[in-house]
Amino acid sequence: MSPLSAARAALRVYAMGAVVILAQLLRRCLGGFAEPAFPQQAGRVAVVTGGTEGIGYATCKRLARLGMHVVIAGNDRAKAEAAVRRIQEETLNDKVEFLYCDLASLESVRGFAHEFKEKKIPLHVLVNNAGVMMVPQRKTVDGFEEHFGLNYLGHFLLTNLLLDTLQESGCPGRSARVVTVSSATHYVGELDLGNLQSRGCYSPHGAYAGSKLALVLFTYHLQRLLAAQGSPVTANAADPGVVNTGLYKHVFWGTRLVKKLFGRWLFKTPDEGAWTSVYTAVTPELEGLGGRYLYNEKETTSLAVTYDRDLQQELWARSCVMTGIRDVTPDILAEGRLPRRETAALSPPLTGV
Ligand SMILES: NC(=O)c1ccc[n+]([C@@H]2O[C@H](COP(=O)([O-])OP(=O)(O)OC[C@H]3O[C@@H](n4cnc5c(N)ncnc54)[C@H](OP(=O)(O)O)[C@@H]3O)[C@@H](O)[C@H]2O)c1
Repeated sequence: MSPLSAARAALRVYAMGAVVILAQLLRRCLGGFAEPAFPQQAGRVAVVTGGTEGIGYATCKRLARLGMHVVIAGNDRAKAEAAVRRIQEETLNDKVEFLYCDLASLESVRGFAHEFKEKKIPLHVLVNNAGVMMVPQRKTVDGFEEHFGLNYLGHFLLTNLLLDTLQESGCPGRSARVVTVSSATHYVGELDLGNLQSRGCYSPHGAYAGSKLALVLFTYHLQRLLAAQGSPVTANAADPGVVNTGLYKHVFWGTRLVKKLFGRWLFKTPDEGAWTSVYTAVTPELEGLGGRYLYNEKETTSLAVTYDRDLQQELWARSCVMTGIRDVTPDILAEGRLPRRETAALSPPLTGV
């Protein structure tokens, strides 16, 4: 990326943020955000990445209140154990637990999937929530640019490794669901397939927005594969809005000051921010429906380029190579619907978990 493109990316991200913030302020003035009614989910199991704080924590708490068995996938053991205790106390639901998963390490993601499967429990909801924003230029354990590697590739691999369990846990009329948390910044994101690692002049804004764009492309392609198989799993993207969390620690100081002074009016609370994820995870209105982009608990259109099937497929293919799993897209899309047992793993790992 050239210095000029990097500056343009920053301006576009801040402009997008300002638009969302103004819309949220208007909504507050007109009565605020209202929590949707969620049906109880007793007996169902959810994995939420980044459930230790912010939107992820609020999502875990809400799902636990609905009676779900919630597994927090996190990379800070002490923080996660404290989060588990707090959620158990506040919701009186003992079925909240923690399993270690560092999304910045593909080996750790594999370890998490293995450990989860060892539990021999079903999986009805996977919320791909964890993320970092506008961090300084640095790499994941596997050498990927951090936004792309952690926000996108970590979740790409995690989802693929858990798909067989999701497929076994879903059934017609009660699908298992993959909910992937994107962001309005995807509308100003760009994805250069020739430069997924942000080589050249690094733009933290461009890298974050690009990772959120990649997550939407991933969601739509995943849904296309699932639908072609007649799978009882759906995949949707959720956009929480602009939410008052610790995600902003690396942004421009002026933005942090605005957040500190006016955050309670301009930003959503973490609970409000979690409602779209929870809605996407449990509402009967979305039963059997996938490939949607949800914002404020309503379907809306994502950036035009996210509907480009060639781009979705190419990104998926490259992601398979980068994470070491086999791309079964050509088989699935060529053969159409296959018997369920033959397609239990959508993208079986080259090395087993
Ligand atoms: N806040 C917003 O305005 C906003 C807007 C649009 C989209 N989003 C999206 O919402 C999601 C949640 O963000 P948030 O605002 O709740 O941010 P947050 O409060 O900073 O929470 C981020 C979570 O991700 C976890 N995480 C970070 N690195 C990880 C790693 N390597 N492995 C596993 N977990 C890791 C963090 O755990 P540790 O701290 O323990 O590492 C934390 O639990 C993100 O995907 C973000 O992009 C947020």
